[in-house]
Amino acid sequence: MNETKLKQLADSLTVKEKVAQTIQLNGDLLIENDVMNTGPTKELGFSDDFDLSAIGSIYNVNDPQKLYKIQQKIMAESKHKIPLLFMSDVIYGFRTIFPIPLAQAGSYDFELIKEAAQVTAKESYLSGLHVLFSPMLDLSRDPRWGRVMEGPGEDVYTAKEFAKQVVDGYQGDLSGDVVPENHVGACIKHFAGYGAPEAGREYNTVDMSNQRLFNEYLPPYQAAIEANCLLVMTAFNVLNGVPSTGNRWLNRDILRERFGFDGVLVSDYAAIEELQAHGFTKNQKDTARKAMEAGVDFDMMTPVYANSLEALAQEGPEIMSLLDEAVWRILLLKNKLGLFENPYRGLESEATGQVLTEEAKAVATRLVEKSSVLLKNEQVLPLNQQQKIAVVGPYGESKLTIGFWASVSGKPQDSVTLKEGMEQVFKQEKLSFAKGFNLFDSYEGFGPLKEGIEMLNGKIEPEAALYQQALATCADADVIVVTFGEQFLESGEGASKTNLQLPEKQKRLIKGLAALNKPIVGILYTGRPLVLTDIEPYFNSLLLVWYPGTMGGLGIANLLAGKAVPSARLAMTFPRSEGQIPLYYAQNSTGRPAVDSTHSTRFISKYSDETNEPLFSFGHGHSYGTVSGNWQQVTEAETALQFTYQLTNQSDWQLETVVHLYVKIHAASIVQPVKKLVLSEKIVLTAQENKTAKFTLPKAALSYYDNAGVKHAAAGEMTFYLSTVNSEDSLTINL
Ligand code: NOJ
Repeated sequence: MNETKLKQLADSLTVKEKVAQTIQLNGDLLIENDVMNTGPTKELGFSDDFDLSAIGSIYNVNDPQKLYKIQQKIMAESKHKIPLLFMSDVIYGFRTIFPIPLAQAGSYDFELIKEAAQVTAKESYLSGLHVLFSPMLDLSRDPRWGRVMEGPGEDVYTAKEFAKQVVDGYQGDLSGDVVPENHVGACIKHFAGYGAPEAGREYNTVDMSNQRLFNEYLPPYQAAIEANCLLVMTAFNVLNGVPSTGNRWLNRDILRERFGFDGVLVSDYAAIEELQAHGFTKNQKDTARKAMEAGVDFDMMTPVYANSLEALAQEGPEIMSLLDEAVWRILLLKNKLGLFENPYRGLESEATGQVLTEEAKAVATRLVEKSSVLLKNEQVLPLNQQQKIAVVGPYGESKLTIGFWASVSGKPQDSVTLKEGMEQVFKQEKLSFAKGFNLFDSYEGFGPLKEGIEMLNGKIEPEAALYQQALATCADADVIVVTFGEQFLESGEGASKTNLQLPEKQKRLIKGLAALNKPIVGILYTGRPLVLTDIEPYFNSLLLVWYPGTMGGLGIANLLAGKAVPSARLAMTFPRSEGQIPLYYAQNSTGRPAVDSTHSTRFISKYSDETNEPLFSFGHGHSYGTVSGNWQQVTEAETALQFTYQLTNQSDWQLETVVHLYVKIHAASIVQPVKKLVLSEKIVLTAQENKTAKFTLPKAALSYYDNAGVKHAAAGEMTFYLSTVNSEDSLTINL
């Protein structure tokens, strides 16, 4: 629709109809047996005469047939025929579920991450969705927080690259000002700082200096905005004393003015109403006013806008014009998606409903291979085809490997189990399996999920019997593979933890198996870094597979067999103990660093009962071969630095090695981290190959912000560290 007509449409709406456009409700709540169901909205506090057919958007309906019927109904019954916008919590895959974002980020294969996002966009488009509530770009350095699984980890550079590729992959080429076929809008979240709740407790207060906000927490969102993401979601948390959802400075001055975001801002679930619970607003009307003033366009799942905006708008021209702005942005988004031309976008194609294609599964398998991190390897991996392999642990045969946030549209039933994967790659007669322990202690307390989980995961069996069976299964094995870790409900939203250790029964089993004195390989399934300090020594090799998604079993089997070679690096630090948290690699030095300090050992920055070091640092990750390297040259051009580096593959494997370039700026008006990642590249080296690699670093990548948000160029002495899979070289220059 051209803008003049769109404007006419906007102008023709009554205030009530405008308000309705700003409402977003969960579709399942709203639609029952294909008819509009007003019961639940009344419970939410909407008034009786609220016209459900005039609302702007629904979310989390993922069935194309259902969406088709809903849209048909809206087009038939609503006065202005404004199509409904369909959004959904598709975070790392629609039906083809990819490894969790925290895993993907560690692949440092940003092209592959984009390919995965394209697959997700296509499956979502073909299922009728218009906008996905992802990528989540909340930097996080606290593994107690359950949602670390949904984001790209602790590092700013990594999160920025991840942001750009996912947004690009979802939205495709927007140069024609429309979202092309097979693509959808990206809604980045949660603006801002949601990944830094105090004490790692979900929904808790966030308080941080402005320099930290500008240097670390805001850049990933900004990178997505520069990649033209069409929507942003606000955050639940208070940021520096003001709830993000009612934060005018954050959402108008920073998001819109400074970052140039002109898309739609949606509140998180009930976050507008919660402004009052935060103690930031007096009543519903005050809440609606503050959220509008902060520029929040969609009210997700609360009656605040619905009940109060009309009166507010009629009372004052200021709110009326803010409402007009919000509605205009919502209509522009619908127009960009081509909904006025075709409200059934994606729902009338020959391929509608097509998911899990061979092509999609191949991308997912590759991403499992590229994002599983080899934490440790004492030459046990890859496994040899002649060995008898005992696979112990519930993840051998479990399909519950897609992680918490995939369950909205994904189906665990689609997953390839480790057993199925291994049977494709190894000789079946060499394999034996035992459950080892129950993944869940009980199925009580899971409400409506109980039946599904029980069906997928099987009966809870006596632990003692499982333990004995496991030992018996290993009796004549040459090598033991143990699967262990968290079950999927232990991470994700609302899953903060203070204890990141493995449960006792898992430790007992691992120790029992290690006592058999056979080579032992651990495969760790988890949504967050765990504290593995006491258990790690029992493994000869340890492969971290996170939640690997639909194709997990096959990708992992390929790695175990050496049909694929590990190359991923940790996107988040594994601490040695919970007491070290937050522990991340890009910390500042202190005036009394633990090493090289002139003070006596008592009066330096350290603990009396633990080292400062993590168990596995950010960037850690082995491969099946080693790579060495040395600096050749650094040249300085006006806007960039060019590094030349010689890499040598010392193995007979073809390796894809992730090269990281870090910098330490020695003196700056804002103290700089001891090390920060500024570049990552993937280099393929054939067996024993020697290669000269060149890396170009824009000088702008070295700049930093002060507490007033002013940008400074870095100058003076700085040290660069070039790190390959197992070596690190430093070089100091003066700029
Ligand atoms: C709350 C979560 O914080 C957000 O990430 C999600 O998109 C919404 N609920 C909608 O389900």
